[in-house]
Amino acid sequence: MALFQSSTRAIPLVEEIPRHIAIIMDGNGRWAKKRLLPRVAGHKRGLETVRSTVKACVDLGVEHLTLFAFSSENWRRPADEVSFLMNLFLLALEQEVSKLHKNNIRLRVIGDRARFDQKLIDLIGEAERLTAGNTALTLTVAANYGGRWDMLQAVRAMHAAKPGGDFNEDDLAEHLSMAYAPEPDLFIRTGGEKRISNFLLWQLAYTELHFTDTLWPDFNPAALKKAIQSYQQRERRFGRTSEQLVNNA
Ligand code: IPE
Ligand code: IPE
Ligand code: MG
Repeated sequence: MALFQSSTRAIPLVEEIPRHIAIIMDGNGRWAKKRLLPRVAGHKRGLETVRSTVKACVDLGVEHLTLFAFSSENWRRPADEVSFLMNLFLLALEQEVSKLHKNNIRLRVIGDRARFDQKLIDLIGEAERLTAGNTALTLTVAANYGGRWDMLQAVRAMHAAKPGGDFNEDDLAEHLSMAYAPEPDLFIRTGGEKRISNFLLWQLAYTELHFTDTLWPDFNPAALKKAIQSYQQRERRFGRTSEQLVNNA
């Protein structure tokens, strides 16, 4: 059984503070270009924004923060940028995991690891094992992640678990890579583009969407609070009418 009910099968629990925030961290390259720096300087600065965003989420009482770090299509970038990003991920794991652990943060990585170097695969496994029992926040990093990849691997796993079975949405959802988390309440994309870019396609079915022109290295806790304030103005109907919500039906 999936741990959390799907938003299309039951009405999820809605809280003042989103339980799960998912972010497409976009705009690093443009941030650097504006400063006549190489694109990778933007990625380096972007890692600082990751730190401050994680801390802000812990302080606000957010349960799940999911960050899109590298998409299954980002391999199409120039080889030197791809290898810089892989090294940055490796470095971040080496330097940050003990701090995450000290702060009671659980780290999970979703995406197809098969294409990563063995050293990176090992570090991810160690970090997940070390932090598995932590409860302050679950930080999920999506790396070599694609929403279509996720659905396809879930379909395969579902068939393997119940060959020839009669399937419903929950049967699939329990094999998605984020089956351990409720669906995102709030999606944020920085950098001005208004698209999903193959992020959590299944899970975003009823997520509130927030797009900001702020480039990821400039995104700060105040900008996060603004996104949450915008979220708090939304009426989450999940298919029902306003009147039904007012009457608490
Ligand atoms: C997001 O910033 C980081 C990754 C995709 C790894 P970009 O590198 O996409 O920055 P822009 O969109 O080119 O400014
Ligand atoms: C989405 O950003 C992926 C990540 C932030 C990791 P991109 O910059 O790759 O998205 P597109 O290509 O503009 O859609
Ligand atoms: Mg981009």
